[in-house]
Amino acid sequence: MKSQSVLVLGGTGTVGSSLVADLAGKGVDVAAATRDPSKFRKLAGVRAVRFDYTDASTFPSALEGVEKVFVMLPPGQTAADRLLGPFLDAALARVRRVVTMTAAGVEMDEGIPLRKVERIVERSGVAWTHIRPSWFMQNFHTFWMGSIRAAGSIALPAADARTAFIDARDIAACAAAALAGEGHAGKAYTLTGQEALTYGEAAAILTRETGRRIVYQPVDDETFRAALLAAGLPADYAGFLVGLFGTVRAGFAARVTPDVQQILGRPGRTLTEYARDHKALFGVV
Ligand SMILES: NC(=O)c1ccc[n+]([C@@H]2O[C@H](COP(=O)([O-])OP(=O)(O)OC[C@H]3O[C@@H](n4cnc5c(N)ncnc54)[C@H](OP(=O)(O)O)[C@@H]3O)[C@@H](O)[C@H]2O)c1
Repeated sequence: MKSQSVLVLGGTGTVGSSLVADLAGKGVDVAAATRDPSKFRKLAGVRAVRFDYTDASTFPSALEGVEKVFVMLPPGQTAADRLLGPFLDAALARVRRVVTMTAAGVEMDEGIPLRKVERIVERSGVAWTHIRPSWFMQNFHTFWMGSIRAAGSIALPAADARTAFIDARDIAACAAAALAGEGHAGKAYTLTGQEALTYGEAAAILTRETGRRIVYQPVDDETFRAALLAAGLPADYAGFLVGLFGTVRAGFAARVTPDVQQILGRPGRTLTEYARDHKALFGVV
């Protein structure tokens, strides 16, 4: 086994899959965590390891030979510190480097579960880096794709507030730099795109670049909550998302930071670049 083996949680996910490829491209030995390694697409330098944060029996083999860990929690959870606690106990006792992906703004309230995850990592004595991304551009082809396909619209309670959307590939590139490079220990980065757009502006860009007509429909909190519940989200997570859009309307998501440029030496991708690269996913080719 090569040195510097990195375990990537969420190795099949939006950020994790890109991170796995970036690290392998840097010659790092990568263990991609997934609940089902048999479905993992083969990639040189990458081994898929079975990992389920709800099943502690998967931790020892996932951590075998691992020196560094990328920690993330899948979306849809409101108790990140409790859910990740058992894995963090196991991992922090044996690795020497952790990069945690949480979310922009978690540092504003020590009671936020993802901030508690960061604090657990900080207190462990292991060298850490926190990456705190803004809203992902990729949400347009994941979370919001259902209503784009069904109604040609994105219905959100964001009013006309701006969001500095970030491309998940840039988040992954920053995580790869922190895991494989030097000079990032003890730092917390807020990762944003280079421009803050309203959802109306974003919808216009997506329409122009993908050829699919997409409009932004501002809705109130209760309309949004009802749509989330109808889509099957649990009430606590629906409430969490409603609250998050309150922070968007208050302007907190509009902040553009220089962190991606500082880490990568280039600005983050624009929404136009994202839309061009993902045009096929919008169903118009
Ligand atoms: N979307 C945004 O705008 C945004 C903004 C800021 C922060 N964030 C944060 O980013 C995180 C989500 O990142 P993402 O979008 O890259 O995730 P994602 O694409 O939804 O990936 C989910 C990953 O979690 C894995 N997974 C699911 N259940 C699991 C379990 N029980 N045990 C172990 N792994 C499991 C899945 O792997 P398998 O199915 O292969 O097991 C998959 O690789 C969240 O913590 C969210 O708070 C998101």
